[in-house]
Amino acid sequence: MYRDTLATIPRLGVVVLLLSFLPIPIPVLADQTLLRPSPESKHHHLSIPSIGLGLWNSKDDNATEAVTYAFDAGYRHLDSAAAYGNEAFVGRTLSSKKHSPPRHKYWVTSKLWNDAHKPKLVAGALNKTLSDLGIPYLDLYLMHWPVAFLPNQSPGRTVIDQDTSILDTWRAMEDLVRSNGTRHIGVSNFSPRQLDQILKNCDICPYAHEFETHPYLQQQDFVDWHADNNITVIAYSPLANMNPTYEGKYPKLGPILEDGFWEDLAGKKNCTVAQAVLAWGIQRGTVVIPKSVHEERIIENLASLNVTFSKEEMRDIQMQDKRSRFNNPSKSWGVELFEGLDDGSNRFLATKSDLR
Ligand SMILES: NC(=O)c1ccc[n+]([C@@H]2O[C@H](COP(=O)([O-])OP(=O)(O)OC[C@H]3O[C@@H](n4cnc5c(N)ncnc54)[C@H](OP(=O)(O)O)[C@@H]3O)[C@@H](O)[C@H]2O)c1
Ligand SMILES: *[C@@H]1O[C@H](CO)[C@@H](O)[C@H](O)[C@H]1NC(C)=O
Ligand SMILES: *[C@@H]1O[C@H](CO)[C@@H](O)[C@H](O)[C@H]1NC(C)=O
Ligand SMILES: *[C@@H]1O[C@H](CO)[C@@H](O)[C@H](O)[C@H]1NC(C)=O
Ligand SMILES: *[C@@H]1O[C@H](CO)[C@@H](O)[C@H](O)[C@H]1NC(C)=O
Ligand SMILES: *[C@@H]1O[C@H](CO)[C@@H](O)[C@H](O)[C@H]1NC(C)=O
Ligand SMILES: *[C@@H]1O[C@H](CO)[C@@H](O)[C@H](O)[C@H]1NC(C)=O
Repeated sequence: MYRDTLATIPRLGVVVLLLSFLPIPIPVLADQTLLRPSPESKHHHLSIPSIGLGLWNSKDDNATEAVTYAFDAGYRHLDSAAAYGNEAFVGRTLSSKKHSPPRHKYWVTSKLWNDAHKPKLVAGALNKTLSDLGIPYLDLYLMHWPVAFLPNQSPGRTVIDQDTSILDTWRAMEDLVRSNGTRHIGVSNFSPRQLDQILKNCDICPYAHEFETHPYLQQQDFVDWHADNNITVIAYSPLANMNPTYEGKYPKLGPILEDGFWEDLAGKKNCTVAQAVLAWGIQRGTVVIPKSVHEERIIENLASLNVTFSKEEMRDIQMQDKRSRFNNPSKSWGVELFEGLDDGSNRFLATKSDLR
């Protein structure tokens, strides 16, 4: 009986016989569910929309609702991160058929936290993010900082992992593109020297670099350098010092929304200061990701797409740079950050020759 059965389907019979003698786990050959189809195979060719919704400091239900407001308003881009502690709340909207567009119609960025830089931890960190967000793949996965922490420390304790380099972590991130877990990979908060190290060694190279840039920290040479090298700049904290965690960093700088120069300019353009500031970020070629949990502000910020400046106005804005960086955890982590850049934790001044 057994032989007869095999004889009717000879090729399969040989495979089954072989498998019964070899220590090959059968699912590797048989279980298609282990394969993740490439997002591209589902005609997903979306490039990054020039405005997205930021999600840092959006807590619990506020994060769920902010994403719903954003989709309703017409946003098709979210800037998430494991470190924001709210990906499961973002996921409540993404997994809702009622509130979310089809997956291939919107862009999701997330970020690998510093305590998962060891190559063996990277795929698990992405999987946790995907399962929290309730989506099968990301559009962009960023190395959140060029700094590795030792995993499993007690809360609030930071120990630098001296054995894991940014290149070790990058190699593991390249594998995530190969396994279809993310369409692109990129970096965040890198210095020119750190970026250069990745660019000289990458097989899959950075799609984007997300860093702090706004009218008070313009870094125009650095932005131009990315354009020349086809690396998209994602401008974080695009509203400069409106993030409340930045309060008191430069007491002499009042909130940009009350800055006389910007109030005058916004009046002239018949728009709000927030819209003017974001419109400048878009017009200079960066991608902006303003955060808000308020529906009216989320709508207001998107309408910055309708504001454009003349060459003269762009030149006037350039004169308003304050070279003031609001986000620099260098001291609390005990590492040097933003070497060679404006207001970095170093003694050097940025010059064009520092940038490759
Ligand atoms: N890669 C990184 O290391 C990194 C670091 C920082 C930020 N980011 C990303 O960048 C995103 C944006 O940066 P951010 O959150 O630092 O700051 P931001 O978006 O520049 O400013 C956010 C603050 O501005 C308020 N706001 C937003 N729109 C407004 C409007 N139209 N009028 C008045 N106030 C308004 C928000 O308040 P309400 O929410 O109360 O409306 C919030 O307090 C983050 O959420 C995160 O996704 C990434
Ligand atoms: C990735 O997607 C491609 C195309 O759909 C497929 O051939 C490949 O097997 C997938 N890779 C993995 C590791 O799932
Ligand atoms: C949600 O946002 C509102 C408006 O900013 C705020 O008053 C409230 O405290 C937020 N909720 C949480 C849980 O942070
Ligand atoms: C991550 O998920 C993929 C696809 O579901 C799976 O093949 C892989 O083993 C997972 N990796 C880890 C480290 O959990
Ligand atoms: C950037 O892209 C353009 C157009 O695709 C190409 O001609 C150029 O060589 C690229 N530059 C770099 C540095 O990769
Ligand atoms: C200015 O903007 C407001 C609100 O968008 C609009 O109602 C008004 O018509 C605009 N005025 C002019 C002169 O464009
Ligand atoms: C831009 O302006 C047009 C014409 O007034 C309007 O229909 C459109 O909704 C605006 N776009 C955004 C994003 O506000």
